[in-house]
Amino acid sequence: MSARVEDLLARMTLEEKAGQLVQVANPDPELDAPALAAGAFGSAIVASGEHAGNVRDAGTQAAHVDALQRAATSGRLGIPLLVARDVIHGHRTVFPVPLGQAASFDADLVRAAARVAAREASADGIRWTFAPMLDVARDPRWGRVAEGYGESAWLTAHLGAAAVQGFQGDDLADAESLAACAKHYVGYGLATGGRDYAEVDVGPRTLHHVHVRPFREAVAAGVATVMSAFHTLDGVPMTAHTGLLRTHLRGGSGGGLGFDGVVVSDWDAVGELLLHGVAGDLPDAACLALTAGVDVDMVTAAYRHLPDLVRAGRLDAALLDDAARRVLLLKERLGLFDRPFTGAGRAASVHLAPTHRELARTAAQQACVLLRDDGPLLPLREPGRVLLTGPFATARAELFGTWTLDGRGEDAVSVADAARERWGDAVTVDDGRWPELALQAARAADVVVACVGEHPMRSGEANSVTTLDLPAGQVELLEALARVSRRLVVVAVTGRPLAMDRLASLGDALVLVLHPGVEGGHGIVDVLAGDAPASGRLPMSLPWSVGHVPVFHDHRPTGRPLDPEGDVGRYRDHADGPAFPFGFGLGHSPVTYGPVRLSAPTLAPGETVTVTARVGNAGKHPVLETAQLYVRARPALRPQDPVSRPVAELVGVRRVALAPGEAQDVALELDAGLLATRDACGAPVPATGPFLVTVAPHAGAATGTTPPTGARLDVVTGPTTEGQP
Ligand code: NOJ
Repeated sequence: MSARVEDLLARMTLEEKAGQLVQVANPDPELDAPALAAGAFGSAIVASGEHAGNVRDAGTQAAHVDALQRAATSGRLGIPLLVARDVIHGHRTVFPVPLGQAASFDADLVRAAARVAAREASADGIRWTFAPMLDVARDPRWGRVAEGYGESAWLTAHLGAAAVQGFQGDDLADAESLAACAKHYVGYGLATGGRDYAEVDVGPRTLHHVHVRPFREAVAAGVATVMSAFHTLDGVPMTAHTGLLRTHLRGGSGGGLGFDGVVVSDWDAVGELLLHGVAGDLPDAACLALTAGVDVDMVTAAYRHLPDLVRAGRLDAALLDDAARRVLLLKERLGLFDRPFTGAGRAASVHLAPTHRELARTAAQQACVLLRDDGPLLPLREPGRVLLTGPFATARAELFGTWTLDGRGEDAVSVADAARERWGDAVTVDDGRWPELALQAARAADVVVACVGEHPMRSGEANSVTTLDLPAGQVELLEALARVSRRLVVVAVTGRPLAMDRLASLGDALVLVLHPGVEGGHGIVDVLAGDAPASGRLPMSLPWSVGHVPVFHDHRPTGRPLDPEGDVGRYRDHADGPAFPFGFGLGHSPVTYGPVRLSAPTLAPGETVTVTARVGNAGKHPVLETAQLYVRARPALRPQDPVSRPVAELVGVRRVALAPGEAQDVALELDAGLLATRDACGAPVPATGPFLVTVAPHAGAATGTTPPTGARLDVVTGPTTEGQP
């Protein structure tokens, strides 16, 4: 309860309250001055709106935002404007795409990157970002897999909560904090056929256990806002989904999330209720969306009709009051009433600050996943004559990936720049435009590094694809290079998992790099040269072909599992499973895992057990290993939850640096809550019965029928009696 906000509400007209709920795109401080002063807009989005975030726009500057604020606060109530932007993976300092950040499996890194983004964006007057995207995604045809944290609900929740903390800082009122937005609530990652915006059909248990889970964690982390998604779920557009928005997201009981912040629609999604066929006109759409629980209407301006709807008795005035209150409270929490102006000058000192670039370089290193290294060929400490070729050899802005509205190509370090820095005159660069010249140069090189991959315009929003192969011509270039090169390293830069059918065996070493950002060139060369450990791990399984998708580690068992030794597969025409499993990634040295030990053989609700395994570096180079904790329910009668559980579910990670020859006991905490599941209404169902607990380097090592490193843990319904083991 805020005295200031209640006082304002008591003095506001219906129009002024509705105005707080209207989000306008790109207002002009002069042309829109009267509307701003009249309180017609509560917030503004600075966005081009075209190409769904794949084209850089003119951006915004503190002086521009301050001019908007002067207009807004000159009105009779003096309410400041809240300015929003899609600050997705950095601002001027561009970090790897979120999927690339997820490859670090490192919440501290994700938190720090979000903090840097907040510091830089707030210097330009932005105080609200539409990030993090928490859609659990298992279909790489969907271009938006680049914007999320991959296929695991636990990892998405873990990293998403860290991003929220980074954007929002310790205090939203800090001038360097942004309000975060958990999006897109909920299930958007399940778009049918990977086609963006397409309908979603999903069972309620999976919806709650997997897809709602990251939102639950984001709410627990204090996220200030949530965005409702574009799609229909079981036929109901999410923008009008009273059950999942007002009842479940806001409700506190029966598994509800208890969210009390602002819900914003997606771009024009209120207007799109007409296209979904559930509203006849904009007043209908406004009535449906506000009733369902959408507080802010992003750009449709359908909420201009709210006052008439109240006067006509179609809408409860209290709903309008509540929504306006939430927006005003957010502005108050951000300190906008007391400090509406940003003031020029901060941007120059914070944008691309050396510490920001340093963090971006660390993140870029970890967006590199080493998939194969025959020989081994890496690290390339003294490689002799190096040829760099392929479209990504000299690329700069293309290293950024999707949604980089404020990144500038000239700031980026290309692979060629970084390679020359590292290996000096031994490096020759050919951009691969003329394959015959590349082949000729390849013959003269000791090592060829072929930098291929997807242009960012092929990933992100509205960029679904029907093939997961490299773009046309690139595999042919690699095949030709493989024939003439002494040693060939393939570096595939991408925003999504690529099909491995033709790629997996090409060259002597293969590195998958998720669009790595402004320090991408350094990150890649650091890993190739061994100046940084090869520590990236796959946040999504890599399929053999597009026909294999969706393929993900935490699928449920079937009653007819495949016999791994057998000669019959699920597909008549291809090998089964992923080409490379979730969590996979090689280091520069082999790593060994010892047996799993538990601090107690049983676990009761509210308890935690410590799971320990000895992890060793069996090679000559330092490693940064990601030990992964997987659980699987073992056969038993489970009267409370007779629901089949995944064959392996990631529930924890621990990263450990190991010098050559070193071994360490790695301990991970397993809380009983991590084993619980959700019922069809979203209420928690505590786990019971035996589980197999595994510490493994990747999901593939945890899903065998008899994993060598697993231990049995019995989960009991009541607290253990004292003295019992
Ligand atoms: C549509 C996208 O779905 C959403 O993620 C984004 O935040 C909005 N556009 C605003 O640009």
